[in-house]
Amino acid sequence: MTVHFIGAGPGAADLITLRGRDLIASCPVCLYAGSLVPEALLDHCPEGARIINTAPMSLDDIIAEIKAAHDAGQDVARLHSGDLSVWSAMGEQLRRLRAEGIPYDVTPGVPSFAAAAAALGAELTLPGVAQSLVLTRTSGRASSMPDGETLENFAKTGATLAVHLSVHVLEEVVARLSPSYGADCPVAIIWRATWPDQKIIKATLGTVIEATEGERGRTALIMVGHALGATDFDESCLYAADYDRRYRPIGTDPRFPEGTE
Ligand SMILES: C[S@@+](CC[C@H](N)C(=O)[O-])C[C@H]1O[C@@H](n2cnc3c(N)ncnc32)[C@H](O)[C@@H]1O
Repeated sequence: MTVHFIGAGPGAADLITLRGRDLIASCPVCLYAGSLVPEALLDHCPEGARIINTAPMSLDDIIAEIKAAHDAGQDVARLHSGDLSVWSAMGEQLRRLRAEGIPYDVTPGVPSFAAAAAALGAELTLPGVAQSLVLTRTSGRASSMPDGETLENFAKTGATLAVHLSVHVLEEVVARLSPSYGADCPVAIIWRATWPDQKIIKATLGTVIEATEGERGRTALIMVGHALGATDFDESCLYAADYDRRYRPIGTDPRFPEGTE
């Protein structure tokens, strides 16, 4: 018996991996985080599967369900939105499963930042503009932020930011980022990326509050950074005609030790 943690993707039912879909189909028990996991994914469950929305449950109740499946020798598909590596509450479940000696594995999913970037048609790491992406959030009722992980600190780096769980405090986010990025820095807010009611507003730090008035539904990403919409950036060397590299060498001498590009 195994608990399969599966990244359910950002919303569109076809943005799950083939492995994730097949695991759902093979499990007689499915626990899903109902607030953001698309219900259409449950169509992959086998007939007669026990399907439970964990949104209203406590961690103890969830682990009790998993233990009952374990005792019955039944595999469990455990679905969380996006990818499991960020804000999935998987860590605390894995810790309990390790303590109980219950086997598990993890199948990644499409994270919401990637879905949002795709919706924008944007590369978030443009040469000479930004080469880092910070996935972050502001403090919430359930989780406070560690001391060093402030928006101000991240802003000093100039990296592209994907601010999660924070559209309801947009004014605060703008106030904290503006001193480093400047009022003309591009911002995009993407609500429910890949869902049928996906919505995007593009603005700048100086205009985004007015541009989003009356538009503060909770499931949204705030993307900030000069890479968004930039047109004046360097081309990477990767495809430059005169760039000598392992997969497109100029000349015939082997010059690239194993492991270099
Ligand atoms: C609990 S976190 C889950 C993150 C998820 N594990 C991931 O990989 O993106 C929920 C937050 O992720 C962001 N989010 C999740 N799905 C989204 C979507 N489809 N469009 C925009 N933002 C989304 C929002 O900021 C939301 O408040």
